[in-house]
Amino acid sequence: MILSLAVCWTGATYISRYLYRYVGTPSAYFAQLIDVILGVTIFIICLSVLALYFRHKELALLAAIIDAMRRISKGDFSVKLDFPTRQSEFQTIVESINEMAGELNRMETMRQDFISNVSHEIQSPLTSIQGFTAALRNSALPVDKRNHYLDIIERESRRLSQMSENLLKLSSLESDRSDFETSRFRVDRQWRTVVLASEPQWLAKELQVDLELEKVEVEGVEDLLGQVWVNLLHNSIKFTPNGGRIGISLTKANDNAVIRISDSGIGIGEKDLPHLFERFYKADRSRNRSDGGSGLGLSIVKRIVDIHRGDVGVTSAPEEGTSFTVRIPCHWADGPEVRRKKG
Ligand SMILES: Nc1ncnc2c1ncn2[C@@H]1O[C@H](COP(=O)(O)OP(=O)(O)OP(=O)(O)O)[C@@H](O)[C@H]1O
Ligand SMILES: [Mg+2]
Repeated sequence: MILSLAVCWTGATYISRYLYRYVGTPSAYFAQLIDVILGVTIFIICLSVLALYFRHKELALLAAIIDAMRRISKGDFSVKLDFPTRQSEFQTIVESINEMAGELNRMETMRQDFISNVSHEIQSPLTSIQGFTAALRNSALPVDKRNHYLDIIERESRRLSQMSENLLKLSSLESDRSDFETSRFRVDRQWRTVVLASEPQWLAKELQVDLELEKVEVEGVEDLLGQVWVNLLHNSIKFTPNGGRIGISLTKANDNAVIRISDSGIGIGEKDLPHLFERFYKADRSRNRSDGGSGLGLSIVKRIVDIHRGDVGVTSAPEEGTSFTVRIPCHWADGPEVRRKKG
């Protein structure tokens, strides 16, 4: 500021000296007065020009921000503000808007993918139900064929209902962690119940199921964790050929329950592993098209494990087998928001 004032003053002196050549030099007092007035006037003009320039830039930035917000409110999330500014508060606003637009864009893509996945998953069983009901109209159809078609219709409708159940489950799991009621229970007992309940399925495939369960108690949402074990065990049964082996171990490590479920099944390719927990993801679709799943089981597993602040990992080798490891903290993080079951 002082430097610019000095520059203006010097400029004023030069200008007045130049003018005095034509109009004659006034007395020292007037010459000084003229210098002061001229200097201050030049300084004010410079300041006004600068203020106008910055105000113009600021208004342009505000207009761009308002335009971006309008486009976002109309559903255009491709907005990207590219407005370099030195004012840190404007820079923060620009960055926040870009971040918000990017996040909304990502969510919109996910929403569209979700809708197209749901439609696709609904469409294929419906097509086969429609096809086989039309075929059943033929009165000359032999009884065994008729029964076969009816079996397919029944299986496909069960698949549809299972999928809608899973979708409902997933959306209910989106609720806040504090909405769940926790209790203390023995995970080893829970596993035994799950394995016993699935006995008809693994016996039908002549699978050998080995259990190695330590006594481990955790605090969590019992029926949700039960769902995790069911989904993992059903996958192992589904993706292990007849006569295979499934091993389930439960240990306690650093106040965590660590569950490992391995099978000697078809395994999963390396490229599929990072996507397994995504909704509707099915590895190698051609191979397990007949298995009838909709690819939601593992996303439910992931969500429930996240609710318990645990983690789940997978290792696999194609044609050799797969192993899922789940870690669940034995204690639900205490907080005033957690309601516990009484008794
Ligand atoms: N134990 C396993 N062995 C081999 N592949 C597996 C195993 N578990 C999961 N997968 C692969 O991961 C995919 C996703 O599993 P997920 O449980 O989410 O879906 P799904 O079993 O196909 O259908 P859903 O569980 O909704 O009935 C499966 O389609 C399968 O390709
Ligand atoms: Mg599954």
